[in-house]
Amino acid sequence: MTEVVIVDDSEQAGALVAGAMVRLITEKADAVFGLATGSAPLPVYTALAERVSRERIDVSRVRGFALDEYVGLDVAQPQSYRSVVVREVVEPVGFDPRRVHVPNGALDTIQGEGERYEKAITEAGGIDLQLLGIGTNGHIGFNEPSSSFASLTRMKTLSRQTREDNARFFDSPDDVPMHCITQGLGTILRARHLVLLAFGEGKASAIARAVEGPLTAKIPASAVQLHPRATVIVDEAAASQLTDVEYYRYAWDNKLEWEKI
Ligand code: GLP
Repeated sequence: MTEVVIVDDSEQAGALVAGAMVRLITEKADAVFGLATGSAPLPVYTALAERVSRERIDVSRVRGFALDEYVGLDVAQPQSYRSVVVREVVEPVGFDPRRVHVPNGALDTIQGEGERYEKAITEAGGIDLQLLGIGTNGHIGFNEPSSSFASLTRMKTLSRQTREDNARFFDSPDDVPMHCITQGLGTILRARHLVLLAFGEGKASAIARAVEGPLTAKIPASAVQLHPRATVIVDEAAASQLTDVEYYRYAWDNKLEWEKI
């Protein structure tokens, strides 16, 4: 089943996931992380940066693959996911930027970029831990509703809802690119461990449908139910529409230490 962990706040979630990442790096110096943008993973990056600096953890061999990127947006723009990943993850944590990959959204090479990105992930030995946020319409990465559960990295058209949700990062809603390139649901399902984070009331419906609803392409995040090791970390507000909360808490409280994320 999907492991659901209900935390007090995003800071606690950040500490929990950063702990799992540090453990991985200790076991495997060139661990491969799947990196998500958006607000939900930020507390993870903050906690990880703090631990890396305080405990002088060597992250020079760690590798990363971002989930997605806008198509046709200059990577030098602050809204490009390449810029976001450098600013919010690579620089604060101290990863080697040459080892952190973001799909290339340049229009002139977009055909074939999906295959190149898949090949790079495969050659890296696959993703050990994939971080995920969730859109209000249930998307993960930029896999909008109707995405195939078998999809691999490819170009997609962003939904109106997602463009509206992301308009806050741009001067005007019309500036939000129409297209993106994203790891597919099939790509995400190949990662060895999925960690989906969601905070706040606005994500409650998407979380309930993803975790407890039927498997459906209408809610791309419901794909996590197919994964043998998926952890969903939510605060009380994002958990507010789940029906089995009591069981999730009970299961977490009775887990053996090594079983926990
Ligand atoms: C974007 C990203 C997703 C992210 C989503 C939600 O659409 N492509 O990876 O999960 O935003 O972001 P937030 O966590 O800021 O709500």
